[in-house]
Amino acid sequence: MNYKIAVISGDGIGPEIVREARKVLDVTGKKYGFSFDYTDLLMGGASIDVNGVPLTDETTEKAKASDAVLMGSIGGDAKTSSWYKLSPDKRPEAGLLKLRKSLNLFANVRPAYLYEELKAACPLRDEIIGDGFDLVIMRELTGGLYFGERKTIEENGVKKAIDTLTYSETEIRRIARRGFDIAMKRRKKVTSVDKANVLDSSRLWRSVVEEVAKDYPEVTLEHMLVDNCAMQLVRDPKQFDVILTENMFGDILSDEASMVTGSIGMLSSASLNETKFGLYEPSHGSAPDIAGQDKANPIATILSAAMMLRFSLDLDEAADAIEAAVKQVLKDGYRTGDIMSEGCTLVGTVKMGDLIAERIQ
Ligand code: NAD
Ligand code: IPM
Ligand code: MN
Repeated sequence: MNYKIAVISGDGIGPEIVREARKVLDVTGKKYGFSFDYTDLLMGGASIDVNGVPLTDETTEKAKASDAVLMGSIGGDAKTSSWYKLSPDKRPEAGLLKLRKSLNLFANVRPAYLYEELKAACPLRDEIIGDGFDLVIMRELTGGLYFGERKTIEENGVKKAIDTLTYSETEIRRIARRGFDIAMKRRKKVTSVDKANVLDSSRLWRSVVEEVAKDYPEVTLEHMLVDNCAMQLVRDPKQFDVILTENMFGDILSDEASMVTGSIGMLSSASLNETKFGLYEPSHGSAPDIAGQDKANPIATILSAAMMLRFSLDLDEAADAIEAAVKQVLKDGYRTGDIMSEGCTLVGTVKMGDLIAERIQ
């Protein structure tokens, strides 16, 4: 079987981490009897440099025509990059948001799991970590503040900026279903995170989630305010199974959750629509501070590629093999700088990719 994969390497460390993910995909395909037909597409800063815009219709159409999209990361250093002299709708991030919206990728799955081998890289104390934790953030990805009306105006010589936060029942219902569906395959607990003590959109969120919960009697639902959730994630991450939340809260909480797994370089992600199609990318950014230095941890991207095999291509056995290879490399003591701890062997991006690929062959 041959699969059509659209590849968006992107900016900064993007091309370095995607190269390693492709290396791992190729050896996995060889072992399990399938192959990939990759189409490289430009997005973000790389597209601005060539096309003057962060996303062209051609990229969107080719992404749509593929079985799945594998992405690195986009964006640059806002202080030094010329991309940030452009108007906001022409910057790298605008391309990513437009692509997510055009492909209707409303469900962003971000698993945060503490590998036993990475306990030393976790900043939490041993008694908090216990036997580790394993949670998933189900983040709504095409609504809320990210896609509301936005403008900056001037009133009596004073500038005023406006961002609007909107959610419809339909948008809340479909992401809530995804949260409960995934909980059914896990420990059957959903923590719905909102700010219902202040926001109307959160109060609607809470009532729709309650309604959806009636269809999942086996799942325990709890509601938690987002400020408390931010605190609980470092106080006791073990309490969480599925965190179901809106776009902006999910963005912030997933970076926080990533750090307790050892590093943001470990956090994979899948952005899904109503079909089998998905866009797979690490949760982190383009890390301009370490780009081009062979320092980036490629594991989040490699684990995102494993999610691609599992969710979009139904290649569960191959996905398991990639995840097992990552675990084995960590067990064997190899670490990139972001997850380094005493007694381990420091390796670069390429070597980490090689070690994972070797363990699959
Ligand atoms: P970032 O995630 O790029 O980096 C934050 C810190 O984490 C940096 O110190 C970086 O070196 C480190 N880091 C990130 N990924 C790493 C990896 N794989 N291995 C080792 N260390 C890693 O966040 P930022 O600095 O706030 O953003 C940089 C740019 O990335 C911005 O332009 C932002 O808009 C963009 N961004 C893009 C995406 C995406 O493409 N999905 C996600 C987040 C941020
Ligand atoms: C992420 C990123 C994006 C987001 C940015 C780059 C627009 O931070 O994927 O988490 O906020 O969704
Ligand atoms: Mn983010």
